[in-house]
Amino acid sequence: GRPIVTDILHCRKPALPPDVLPPYNCCPPMPASEPIDFRLPDPSEPLRTRRPAHVAGADYMAKYERAIALMKALPRSDPRSFYQQAKIHCAYCTGAYRQVGHPELPVQIHFSWFFFPLHRAYIYFFERIAGKLLGDPEFGVPFWSWDVPEGMRFPVAFANASSPLYDPLRNPRHAPPKLVDLDFCWGREKNYTDEQQIQYNLRIMYNQMITNSPSASLFYGQPFRAGEDDKPGPGPVELYLHNTMHVWTGDTSLPNTEDMGGYYSAGRDPVFYSYHANIDRLWETWRNITSGDQRNLIITDPDWLESSFLFYDEEARLVRITVRDVLNIDKLRYAYDGVDIPWLNARP
Ligand code: C2O
Repeated sequence: GRPIVTDILHCRKPALPPDVLPPYNCCPPMPASEPIDFRLPDPSEPLRTRRPAHVAGADYMAKYERAIALMKALPRSDPRSFYQQAKIHCAYCTGAYRQVGHPELPVQIHFSWFFFPLHRAYIYFFERIAGKLLGDPEFGVPFWSWDVPEGMRFPVAFANASSPLYDPLRNPRHAPPKLVDLDFCWGREKNYTDEQQIQYNLRIMYNQMITNSPSASLFYGQPFRAGEDDKPGPGPVELYLHNTMHVWTGDTSLPNTEDMGGYYSAGRDPVFYSYHANIDRLWETWRNITSGDQRNLIITDPDWLESSFLFYDEEARLVRITVRDVLNIDKLRYAYDGVDIPWLNARP
């Protein structure tokens, strides 16, 4: 087998475009000792319920705000600090990590079958760090449900310029109440009414989640194994929905569509974690929709299941986690609640 094995010593400053904003080095702090193997949380742990930002309510959003403020207040050397959490995206997504045994080959997890599991692990640890800092073992990251009509706007809690959830590097034309455009192309705004845009978005959701995702290999993206070139090919959720919304959120007048529109900078916007919780929810939704299906909709390839990534946990311990470890969210002790899937009836 040729699973991808992330090694922290094989992280180096990536080749970033010349006009990026600091920090330029995406690698995490070096650990004092070897990474420990991931262990599932105790089954008796309280379930962390992730709720949509638009229905979560002021108290819940204030809690998320406090968590981000606490992360931002940690010293930059602490792997749980917001500074370091933001860099995780840069490390896994710009080729900062090199393949063990193939130093010439980067590990870039996008445009491959690692898209869903890597981001799941990322948000999992982020959420537990937030819960730990808050002293709340039930804290779940609020998700930005841009796929349902009520969530099709940039969530207001993040748009308040005096909040720790604010990031000035966003597209000012897309501040609420502007509706999201799931088919946004660089700088081109559509002249739809709100109702037209909502119906259009729902049909795009149906297309990517149902029509274009009939099998595991199409949904997840193409295999990426050690010794191979990165970016073999993305699934439709990553390519169309995910990439589009990153660019919709970032500032298209900046050279790299910072923050959300650039791989190196996306994690710097606090909305990134709520944004990706929704991507993760869509993964879970697809699994639920297809669970009664006779076709083989799971990946059993050990090169996928045994590939492993490194994250610092809520105790600042370096943990090695595999794809196999993240396939069951109930075992990870979190759940999604609070939205339906109206696009399921939006067959074009
Ligand atoms: Cu790692 Cu949303 O990109």
